[in-house]
Amino acid sequence: MNKNGKISEANKYSPSGVGGNIDSYTHVRGESVYLDDIPVVNGTLFASAFDSPVAHGKIKLLDTTEAEAMPGVIRIFTAYDIPGENQIGGIIPDEELLANTHVHFCGMPIALVVAETDEAARAAIKKIKVEIELLTIITDPREAKEKGELIIPPRTFQIGDITTAWSQCKYIFEGRTETNGQEHLYIETQGAYAVPQENGVIRIYSSTQGPTAVQRTAARVLAIPMNQIEVDTTRLGGGFGGKEDQATTWGVMCALACYHLKKPVKYSLHRMEDMRMTGKRHPYSSDFKIGLNKDLKILAYEAVFYQNAGAAADLSPAVMERTLFHCTNSYFIPNVKATAYCCRTNLPPNTAFRGFGGPQGMFVIEAAIAKAAEQLNIPAYEIQQKNLLQTGDEFPYGQKAESEANECWSKTNQLYGIKKLQQNVDDFNSKNKLYKKGMALMPICFGISFTKTLMNQARALVHVYTDGSVGISTGAVEMGQGVNTKMLQVAAKIFSIDPVNIKVTTTNTYRIANTSPTAASAAADLNGRATEIACNAVLQRLKQVAADELKVEVSKIEIKEETVFANGSKTEWDWKKLVMATYSKRISLSELAHYTPEDIHFNLNKEKGHPFVYHVYGTAISIVTIDCIRGIYEVDSVKVVHDFGKSMNTMIDLGQCEGGIVQGIGWMTMEELLYNKEGKLMTSALSTYKVPDIYSVPKEITIHFLKTQKNNSAIFGSKAVGEPPLMYGIGAYFALHNAVKAFNTTAGLKYDAPMTPEKVLMGLYSPAKKNELLNAEGIKVI
Ligand code: MTE
Ligand code: HPA
Ligand code: MOS
Repeated sequence: MNKNGKISEANKYSPSGVGGNIDSYTHVRGESVYLDDIPVVNGTLFASAFDSPVAHGKIKLLDTTEAEAMPGVIRIFTAYDIPGENQIGGIIPDEELLANTHVHFCGMPIALVVAETDEAARAAIKKIKVEIELLTIITDPREAKEKGELIIPPRTFQIGDITTAWSQCKYIFEGRTETNGQEHLYIETQGAYAVPQENGVIRIYSSTQGPTAVQRTAARVLAIPMNQIEVDTTRLGGGFGGKEDQATTWGVMCALACYHLKKPVKYSLHRMEDMRMTGKRHPYSSDFKIGLNKDLKILAYEAVFYQNAGAAADLSPAVMERTLFHCTNSYFIPNVKATAYCCRTNLPPNTAFRGFGGPQGMFVIEAAIAKAAEQLNIPAYEIQQKNLLQTGDEFPYGQKAESEANECWSKTNQLYGIKKLQQNVDDFNSKNKLYKKGMALMPICFGISFTKTLMNQARALVHVYTDGSVGISTGAVEMGQGVNTKMLQVAAKIFSIDPVNIKVTTTNTYRIANTSPTAASAAADLNGRATEIACNAVLQRLKQVAADELKVEVSKIEIKEETVFANGSKTEWDWKKLVMATYSKRISLSELAHYTPEDIHFNLNKEKGHPFVYHVYGTAISIVTIDCIRGIYEVDSVKVVHDFGKSMNTMIDLGQCEGGIVQGIGWMTMEELLYNKEGKLMTSALSTYKVPDIYSVPKEITIHFLKTQKNNSAIFGSKAVGEPPLMYGIGAYFALHNAVKAFNTTAGLKYDAPMTPEKVLMGLYSPAKKNELLNAEGIKVI
């Protein structure tokens, strides 16, 4: 609320007027409903999974007798209790719900205990005995590739002619990079609650990004038709990709127990179970070779990506594909060859995570540019800027860019002054011995659409009730990203009614069928466009009724702020009266609309096509300060120009940018996922896995909303914002590198993310530097 007592534009979608998101009010009051807030039905039972203690082996013996005798235990389910297929693989059928004869990763579910209480279920788990004959464990993707452990055949994207291009290059650099995985750490852990309905129907409340995936898989595992499974999702306490595919496991487990016991069954994972049993962002190990001409134009780029997929396909083939799509980030490179291997290892199957393989691809080209810059002794931004995509440039996959890369870059320079900031950093470094600053630019280019073309479809169901209030259902899942607010805004704008009269209902497979998961940053676009079509269809009928009643042509009717206008002048008719009149004439006040974007296609044989409806661009400048005694650091600032198209909700979009940046910085600098050689996760708790807290967020994040004008087919021209900002976080990694090099020119840093304080410290005091310090006066190195 502003000081005149009016609700400002940004705040008017919240009933309280306190935020740009309709959920803010119930969030701050603790009234928002997550899985654990759903009141449980009397007689509800609780499930817990017994998971494999080893990463690979053959099950010799599974003894549940002692566990079954534990107080409160109702039943223990194993693979033998599955009436349909023991199969949860989405893309490839290679993943069992419960291990049958073999286990493939530490944390793979083997049995499901169902008991009267959560505590009883977990106590019984401890009494299950298993004997497993160990088999060879692979944790490294390069080793997996050597041994032929590939989930799908390798794929290669190519443009130009890489073999002849090298001879035209003045400079050629090669290197290797590593990016580690990342724990999703959604605040709400995975979970589901299955409640039996009449006639064998099972309703599953699921904390999922993909209600249809839960429905489809439950039907498959139980061998019942999909129409017997209702999946309902109110909202998630975060998903970040971790619940696109992997929420299915828990939903189906609850459904399995519910099917057999005819009782409601709930399973809400404890944090450590969740961290141990679920897959994460894919670690990648990669090789690059980059060639530039004398003007610093990149003429050739070759990359080989080894994706650590984990023990089953999950979404890995699609994630790998997006790595290839984004392997040149926002640069035009005329000769490219990029190959990716989807390597099967004995880790939990890795899965979608904000950016979906894109960030991993972008890191490698940024490392290649950083290496070239280091060797040529120039700032990386000189190479970056010279190679930005122009409109009309072709990506290695055949699509032509509608580029905003140069607009974003030049606005960044105009607003923040790249050279001036670099000068400030250099001045600081020349004056300070024990603190050093580093700066790096990070341009981004991210394609919007599911890379699997058929997934780009959505439906919306809009009802106008006889009192004029409106209900909207779509396939989009609210997970904090504000998609419900955006859906509500679409209806409010098209009907021109007060947003308080509109309600977005839960995401439910009985209302909206065959949904794509809420992912690929495309939920607001796909579901928003469907909502737009549905609202327009109802609006058209309402206008026809008004035209008939007022005896004017329908094209002369307008509805503005709940008032009907004819020929530009106000009439006696308002929204409610018109709705009632339409109903009285037995004309439908409801619409189910379908939307699918045109002009997207991809030819898998040629690896060419037009997979994205548009791209999102942006540029960030990251500046960091390191403490050269301790190796610790702070991110001073991240200054961004981001291409929003025409943002429809600046508060939400700002939040998405800030959150994405911090999550990206976390991945690049401090989140260190460690599996030991036996495939056991060593960082399975918040005491051992460090995520950014309030003290580690940048001291300054400035976001400039660049309004870009090109047609983009986004909802109301408001470009998708969910994932792209995460990739600005990559800038913090290279800024840290530059800061270390300011202290120690002989640091010899590897491109190995995350850049933890330990790695910074090792870089600061590489052997050569140590000797130099020992010989210098006044500094004592112990
Ligand atoms: N923001 C919040 N608060 N919580 C989330 O789980 N997920 C991200 C992003 N922003 C996420 C989020 C991911 S991975 C995606 S794909 C998009 O939101 C999905 O939502 P959208 O399509 O509506 O942007
Ligand atoms: N992005 C996110 N999730 C997905 C995609 C994608 O491109 N394809 C399938 N699931
Ligand atoms: Mo987001 S990784 O596409 O759920």
